[in-house]
Amino acid sequence: MDIKELSIHNQDTIKKALQVLDKTGLGVIFIQDVDGKLVGLLTDGDIRRALIGDAQLNSPVELAMNRNFTSLPVETENKVILDNLTSKVKIIPLTDANGILVDYASINRLRRISVASPVLNGNELLYITDCVKTNWISSQGKYVRAFENSFEKYHGGRKSLAVSNGTVALHLALDALGITKGDEVLVADFTFAASVNAIIYTGATPVLVDIEKDTWNIDVKKIEQYITPNTRAIMPVHIYGHPCNMDAIVEIAKRHNLLIIEDCAEALGSLYAGKPVGTYCDAATYSFFGNKTITTGEGGMVVFKDERVAERAAVLRDHGMEKNRRYWHTEVGYNYRLTNLQAAVGVGQFERLDEFVVAKRVNADTYSKAFADVPYFQLPIERDDSFNSFWMYTLLVNESAPFTRDDLIHHLNLKGIETRPVFFPIHQMPPYVNFGKPEELTVSKWVSAHGLSLPSSVNLTTTELMYICQTINSFVADFKAVV
Ligand SMILES: Cc1ncc(COP(=O)(O)O)c(C=O)c1O
Repeated sequence: MDIKELSIHNQDTIKKALQVLDKTGLGVIFIQDVDGKLVGLLTDGDIRRALIGDAQLNSPVELAMNRNFTSLPVETENKVILDNLTSKVKIIPLTDANGILVDYASINRLRRISVASPVLNGNELLYITDCVKTNWISSQGKYVRAFENSFEKYHGGRKSLAVSNGTVALHLALDALGITKGDEVLVADFTFAASVNAIIYTGATPVLVDIEKDTWNIDVKKIEQYITPNTRAIMPVHIYGHPCNMDAIVEIAKRHNLLIIEDCAEALGSLYAGKPVGTYCDAATYSFFGNKTITTGEGGMVVFKDERVAERAAVLRDHGMEKNRRYWHTEVGYNYRLTNLQAAVGVGQFERLDEFVVAKRVNADTYSKAFADVPYFQLPIERDDSFNSFWMYTLLVNESAPFTRDDLIHHLNLKGIETRPVFFPIHQMPPYVNFGKPEELTVSKWVSAHGLSLPSSVNLTTTELMYICQTINSFVADFKAVV
């Protein structure tokens, strides 16, 4: 509803105020003077008290309005607004520097706490300004190389190529490794569809494998039953930041002579056996979409074990054009390049990776402690061999709960807390029904029906975290009281 529909003039009548209150249903209206300045708030109760006194229906509202109210500047942060919202002050008008009403806040109408918002207040602007000032805005330019170098260094010197997004990163990795029509690639049934789509782009067939109950990653005990003479690769996806069981996967791949392509889109900063994910494979890929641990808006990276494969990938990334012979194409390639502008943001973001991972782990620790005694939740874990970057804090609502996952999502939404249900099982969606057997993918189906992700941004404040934890815990407590 437009703020204008919730406001009236201080000379308007009490009758008009009642009509507006009746129409808006908010329980309060804002009163402005001739200059548009906010001068009062008016509730049904204020009117009742005024009418019991001397006021008439045709008296001006300024006789009844409350002049002593809480208002805040419109740019006020959520945490301050939250501190001011009490059982008495349920609605706070927000004004500009001239005292003009521009918005209002209530517990249901805070700036929403988003599931994952980017934080771009490091050197990103400085570097991107440098691109603009120097005219290096396309895919040539020092930031692309610098961004790739950061990944190379982080992955023990493995050659890295920046690309346009995490999906084409996967496609480029698979293509450069020679995955093609007739091949089969094993992948978890519980992932973002891009993992599976990229396999399909190459002409190969994805083979969907069920997941583990506690990490929600590909179940290594079930991999071998799907290996056929056509199997060429395994694609472990480190879901929500928890590393897959790479020792087991590497061992299976060795035994069956398979390639490994790690989809690390959700796991930058995660370690397996003390080493970064992305170093246990032939190629690893990352995504820098806006909700990822570091972002470039859209963007991706491929990290290669074999330099020659990386060289081929570099040609494929650039239309299949020979490196030293312009406009001479040796194969059908793609334009999968990242711009210098995006890479500039990436360099600024990468500088803060450690800090971001610490913040994600603080979020996770706070949630896990707050919900430790909730009998209805299955919380995310961190195995002894793993360091979980907790990209997205995700929990399951057990069947024993007197409420469903969707009830909780709905409740949190009303409280201004954004959440996400987890992925659908891949095999249930129309394009993928032939790639997995439903009766063999039961854990994936179960997790999919019960999981939700909580706000996991690296700039969540302690107040916001406390608000989320309290909101969830009192929702649960209300049910406990009824049961
Ligand atoms: C597991 C996984 N793989 C691949 C992708 C694709 O990345 P992008 O969105 O950058 O194409 C994503 C997320 O977006 C993802 O979560």
